[in-house]
Amino acid sequence: MSVTAVVGAQWGDEGKGRIVDYLAQRADMVIRFQGGDNAGHTVMNEYGLFRLHLVPSGIFNPATCCIVGPGTVVNPETLIGEMAELASAGVALDNLWLSERSQVVMPYHRLLDGLEETARGSGQIGTTRRGIGPAYADKAARIGIRLGDLCRPDYLAARLAQVLPHKNLALQHFGQPALNLDDLLAQATAWGRVLGPRIVDTLPMVQEAVQRGRRVLLEGQLGVMRDLDWGTYPYVTSSNPIAGAACAGAGLPAAAITEVIAVVKAYCTAVGAGPFPTELKDDVAVHLRQVGQEYGATTGRPRRCGWLDGVVLPYAAWLNGFTGLAITKLDVLDGLPEVKLCVGYRLEGRLITHVPDTPDLERCEPVYETWPGWSRSTRTARRWEELPTEAQAYLRRIAELAGAPIRYVSVGPERDQLIVV
Ligand code: GDP
Ligand code: IMO
Ligand code: MG
Repeated sequence: MSVTAVVGAQWGDEGKGRIVDYLAQRADMVIRFQGGDNAGHTVMNEYGLFRLHLVPSGIFNPATCCIVGPGTVVNPETLIGEMAELASAGVALDNLWLSERSQVVMPYHRLLDGLEETARGSGQIGTTRRGIGPAYADKAARIGIRLGDLCRPDYLAARLAQVLPHKNLALQHFGQPALNLDDLLAQATAWGRVLGPRIVDTLPMVQEAVQRGRRVLLEGQLGVMRDLDWGTYPYVTSSNPIAGAACAGAGLPAAAITEVIAVVKAYCTAVGAGPFPTELKDDVAVHLRQVGQEYGATTGRPRRCGWLDGVVLPYAAWLNGFTGLAITKLDVLDGLPEVKLCVGYRLEGRLITHVPDTPDLERCEPVYETWPGWSRSTRTARRWEELPTEAQAYLRRIAELAGAPIRYVSVGPERDQLIVV
């Protein structure tokens, strides 16, 4: 049996999509267990270039069963658009299934996310404005609409009739027009007609796969530093990207996960607000952003860039239980004369080596180790031995800090630009 969670070890955008796409060549099932279309998972393979928001990154293997799990929040509009894009590129969608328990991101969620963000003024979280926070808030408040409801018009009508007056009050508060119940119902039932055949109870499929010892991948969204409980609260997303949440979000017993692969970018990036101790504003930041093409896959926003944070790594390792690392974007560091790695923070004159809570993290200054850079390109390397010795030393130090062995090193965005260690 192998159930492997693939999770982000930093602030998101580590390259989870490309790693899942690679691993899915030999996987029987891929399950997205949390998040929604705030995700932008970039995949480059023989079908082309894709920025997946909801469809699991295993979709390119027609033999892989792809499940949008119950822990997700799904905007049907986005999903239908994404499916059309994939289909027109020749990608088979026969094996795509949606949990009837997934929450629906309704039009009012998206509207309210934008309105609430704007109203926060200088205190903005920098959300993707995709309605993620409001949708998870409704889930917790037990007033969410679920994908299965889209296929039960009478039930849906009753639920929406209960919820909509509250949402309209909130919209009114922001000076926005009320949404019409009949229009919303018509829209939602139309989604139900399109997606209905795929909306199922995914639990028996997951159970059977695990019981039969199939290879299952759990695809995380974002990274630990945006985890609702362990990230830089309140500058976080509204779900838990850590591996521990994958069981609930996919429908697995706690002991089912056999491997946790941490996707670690060879440096750090973040989109959105909140503390980011290793952030750079100098020429190195420009290098990382330009060479690494660090622009949000969902919103197009320039990503904040900085050196790798080696204080976050052991924190992420503990919270997730890493069994192996996939270190990505090593090639982006090619040509830099030196590479820095944060190994501690200075807080009020004291050196600390743990991640403190947000107000203290805001005041932390990074303490760096400096490693020699390498001038040779790593992009064509396909074996560990082909990497410059300086790059090998830097990678070994990352593994030491994360306390887990390196399993993959990615040296470019294409599927084959990967070293299996
Ligand atoms: P995700 O959200 O974790 O799946 O990551 P994103 O797709 O948002 O961001 C990763 C970006 O880096 C994408 O543009 C990928 O195509 C690109 N990428 C992934 N791995 C590598 C790599 O090893 N080298 C380079 N240069 N780009 C990479
Ligand atoms: P992937 O899966 C990077 C960030 C937003 C914001 C915070 C909350 O591609 O790594 P939200 O819309 O979730 O309420 O925003 O989280 N954020 C991401 N940053 N990659 C993502 O996804 C993100 N999804 C959300 O920028 O700071
Ligand atoms: Mg992304």
